[in-house]
Amino acid sequence: MKLKIAVLPGDGIGPEIIDQGVKVTKAIAERFGHEIEFEEALVGATAIDKVGDPFPEETFELCKNSDAVLFGAIGDPKYDNDPKAKVRPEQGLLAMRKKLGLYANVRPVTTFPSLIDKSPIKKELVENVDFVVLRELTGGIYFGEPQGRSEDGKTAYDTNMYHKYEVERIVKLAISYVLKRNKKLTVVDKANVLATSRLWRETAQEIAKEYPELNMDFMFVDNAAMQLIQNPGQFDVMVTENMFGDILTDEASVITGSMGLLPSASIGLLTSVFEPIHGSYPQAAGKNIANPLATILSVAMMFEYAFDLHEEGKLIREAVDKSLEEGYVTEDLPTGNSRSTSEVGDWIEKYIRG
Ligand SMILES: NC(=O)c1ccc[n+]([C@@H]2O[C@H](COP(=O)([O-])OP(=O)(O)OC[C@H]3O[C@@H](n4cnc5c(N)ncnc54)[C@H](O)[C@@H]3O)[C@@H](O)[C@H]2O)c1
Repeated sequence: MKLKIAVLPGDGIGPEIIDQGVKVTKAIAERFGHEIEFEEALVGATAIDKVGDPFPEETFELCKNSDAVLFGAIGDPKYDNDPKAKVRPEQGLLAMRKKLGLYANVRPVTTFPSLIDKSPIKKELVENVDFVVLRELTGGIYFGEPQGRSEDGKTAYDTNMYHKYEVERIVKLAISYVLKRNKKLTVVDKANVLATSRLWRETAQEIAKEYPELNMDFMFVDNAAMQLIQNPGQFDVMVTENMFGDILTDEASVITGSMGLLPSASIGLLTSVFEPIHGSYPQAAGKNIANPLATILSVAMMFEYAFDLHEEGKLIREAVDKSLEEGYVTEDLPTGNSRSTSEVGDWIEKYIRG
């Protein structure tokens, strides 16, 4: 297959982890006989520093004209610590999601047998955890207008807004996952307080009527935060709004053992984006210590979701499982013998090359 991938390393650890993702993609391409062209573009703080725009038009054009986007992370403390900055790296991330129409972020949460003992949660609770969170990505409070400050600067406001069509399309997508997995859909909201959540609940109930075989329940987000730790095995497919999904999936990363393990796919109207769920982890930037597995597993999702190449995805997952079994891991997964980011990437690349 002939493919073009837009590569957006971004900020902080972005370039280091993306290097490993590209290495793995090249190894897969050679092993399976695919011809893959990579083209790199700017995003985030790096893009602001170079061209004054966190999601430049050229980056958008490249993404639009590629078969998939492989994205690292954005974010820089110099902007995080300057609340008055007019242009921010996060605007680049939100612009990418909006312009590419990436309305659904798919985040699988599975535990790795070799890491069960390392989870801060009891073994019997995390064993066999296997669920998917669909986080709405282009609506809600991260995009709602108006947003701002009063003239005297003493009041600030954000707007949480959802349109019915936004809820419909992601609930339908979530149901397509449930039907493949054949189990249960949990809609997470705060319908006892928020009007937007009541729209979510009402819309999900209407859609569910078309699927009599569907086992659907609703859970308030505060309860979901607790249940994720107390009984994560109960979940199969979870669908929720933008901010709830952002927070709950970071929490869910604890189940697996590290933020560096959770991949994601952002899918929507144009090109899909494959990205680890974590941020730019600035404390680790340039140190070659960040875990590259979330990125490498995002590459597996790219082969499966964007290119429909399942054997390729399976081999990447197998390589990741083996590196974990061998204890060939970065320092966030304590084995007493940690490896660098690039060593883990090299090990996985070599495994794939056979
Ligand atoms: N999608 C994105 O690009 C994205 C997502 C979240 C945060 N951010 C940005 O990233 C910056 C840092 O934010 P943060 O500290 O809240 O979140 P973060 O995800 O960057 O890091 C939080 C913690 O998770 C762990 N971690 C994250 N990635 C890891 C990896 N690959 N290997 C090992 N451990 C890892 C580290 O302990 C780290 O301290 C901010 O500027 C924020 O805005 C970007």
